[in-house]
Amino acid sequence: MAIQSLGYIGVNATQLDSWKGFACGVMGLEDVSDALGDDSTHYYKMDYHPYRFFVQAAETDNLALCGWETNNQAGLDEVASALTVAGVAFTWGDDALIAKRRVQNLLSFTDPAGNHHEAYWGVVSDFKVLNSPEGVSGFVTGDQGLGHVVLPAPNFDETARFFTDILGFGLSDLMKLRFTPDPDEPVKRLWFMHCNRRHHSLGLFEVPHPAGCIHVMTEVANVDEVGRGNDRRIAAGVKLSGTLGRHANDHMVSFYMQSPGGFDVEYGAEGLTIEDWTKYEVFESTVPSFWGHDFSVGQQD
Ligand SMILES: [Fe+2]
Repeated sequence: MAIQSLGYIGVNATQLDSWKGFACGVMGLEDVSDALGDDSTHYYKMDYHPYRFFVQAAETDNLALCGWETNNQAGLDEVASALTVAGVAFTWGDDALIAKRRVQNLLSFTDPAGNHHEAYWGVVSDFKVLNSPEGVSGFVTGDQGLGHVVLPAPNFDETARFFTDILGFGLSDLMKLRFTPDPDEPVKRLWFMHCNRRHHSLGLFEVPHPAGCIHVMTEVANVDEVGRGNDRRIAAGVKLSGTLGRHANDHMVSFYMQSPGGFDVEYGAEGLTIEDWTKYEVFESTVPSFWGHDFSVGQQD
C-alpha cells in the first residue's frame, strides 16, 4: 500500500492556548510554535519530524484532520489514482498549504463518514531531537508513525471498505460492542486496521462522535513513562476517561484522558508490532482489555 504511517494530526481549537498546557504539561510534547507557528496555528513536536500535532484557530473544538505519510511522489500518485478510480473527490494542496505543512506535496480528501484526511510525502526536517518540557525520553514513532487514531464511522460498511479496498489498509482485528445489557441493542462494530508494523494505526467505530474522533494514541518508551504521564494528568486536573489497563488486541498498557479537543488521548507503552502480517491471524475480541481500562470513570462527574 502507498500509505506508510499516521504522520500528523490536526486539531481545531476555539482557544489556541487551551492545548498548550495539555500538550506540553501532560503529554510532554515540545511546543515549537515560536519556530514554526503563527497567530493562528501552534505546533507540537514528538520526534525528528518538525511537528506531529498542529492546533489551528477555529470556531469548534474537534479533530480537524489526519495526515497520512507516503514514501514519495509515486506513493502519493498511487493514492491519487486509487481515489480517482473509486470516484472519490480530492484536492491537491496549493503552494501555501504545502509550505505550511512542511512537506513536498499533499492532497486532501474526506472519507465516507465525513472525516478529513491529507496524504503527503517528504517531510522537511532539521532532525532536532525532542526536548520534552516534562522530560519524556521519547515517543515510539519512526516507521510506526505517531501512534493511532480511532474515528467515528456510523456508515460503517462504506467507510471500512474505503480504507481497506481503496487506501489499502489491512484489518488487524475487530470487536462488536453493546453499551447496554439489552441483547436486542444492535452491536456497534469497532475495526482496527494497520498500514505498517504497528498493530493498528486506524480504528473505525460504528458510532457518531461530535468531536470527529474517539481517541488519538501516543506511545512512550515504557510503563514508568505512562505512570508519570498519569501523575501529570492528575496534577493538571485533566479528567480520566479510562483507567490504566492492558489492551487485548495491541497489548498497549495505557490510560485515557480528555483532551481539550473533545476527544480522548490514550497514553500508552508496550504496544504490539507485527513483523509479518501474512502470518497474522485476524480475530474478534469480546473484551477490550486483559485487565483495567474501566471507561465508566469517563461517564462520572
Ligand atoms: Fe487506542
